[in-house]
Amino acid sequence: MSRAADGRFRRKDLLGLRGVSAEEIGHVLDVSEQFRDINLRRVKKVPTLRGKSVVHLFLEPSTRTRTSFDIAAKRLSADTFSISGSSSSATKGETLLDTARNLAAMHPDIIVVRHGRAGAPLLLSEALPETCIVNAGDGFCEHPTQALLDMLTIRRSLGGFKNRIVTIVGDILHSRVARSAIYGLTTMGATVRICGPRTLIPVGIEGAGVEVHDRLETALKDADAVMMLRIQQERLHRGGHFFPTTREYSRLWGLDRRKLSQWARKDILVMHPGPINRGVELEPEVADGEWSVILDQVENGVAVRMAVLYLVLGGESAARQEGRA
Ligand code: CP
Repeated sequence: MSRAADGRFRRKDLLGLRGVSAEEIGHVLDVSEQFRDINLRRVKKVPTLRGKSVVHLFLEPSTRTRTSFDIAAKRLSADTFSISGSSSSATKGETLLDTARNLAAMHPDIIVVRHGRAGAPLLLSEALPETCIVNAGDGFCEHPTQALLDMLTIRRSLGGFKNRIVTIVGDILHSRVARSAIYGLTTMGATVRICGPRTLIPVGIEGAGVEVHDRLETALKDADAVMMLRIQQERLHRGGHFFPTTREYSRLWGLDRRKLSQWARKDILVMHPGPINRGVELEPEVADGEWSVILDQVENGVAVRMAVLYLVLGGESAARQEGRA
């Protein structure tokens, strides 16, 4: 693939945040800041990726990520093409690899992929050396752009990650959001606490440099941000029952105004990747309350995805080579 790598982000693909350095993450966040400004202009379009094509291959449902990637690519002037599970030939039995090889034969520059199975983006990355692959969420493995937008939101609110405590609450076991956030936040120097039913905490996760808390009260103490996760019903049904009832879950690990007022710092940031199960992990008074930065996360998502699309294609050095900088 002919592309000049940006010195601080040397990747053809973004498959996950595992193994991505603090320098690279910091650079993505810095570039995202520049793209944030474009999203606030009256005319929200720049020629940065003119002549490039981006395929959005979403074989699992999505509202935020898909729209956000599509808006990001269009604001950079790339041509975009969307394929969803229900409208693709995957419904006729075509394998992911065959689908991807056929798409690659049309020479897109980037394939953004969401898939219900962990490892799908890695498979495509190995099979398609000429195409940049960006993971938009694979099974319970990783969701790197979600973690990056979470980190941009935290950095914008708190100024950085050192000596900061971020608590992640809920279904950690099935959460690609949690996995990517843990990799990213610990790399950037934050303390990460996880909290939820023991049945939904991965065995041995303490070794990954996180604190495990059974009780929400201790998990919230002195935390700078709390990230509430959705109970992933679509993944839970495969493994049986993980907690007695939704009501019980909500009583112990759901967040409401009373718990926040009694147990958390006054200025704690309340985050959620969406979609929210209102009344289960988060009461509406909190989701829509003064602590919430949930819509800031969504807003920052567009800038982060613009940065990622730009950087996997080589960033500034490639743009300069092609006369687009
Ligand atoms: N946060 C997130 O991935 O949302 P969607 O499933 O709507 O894309």
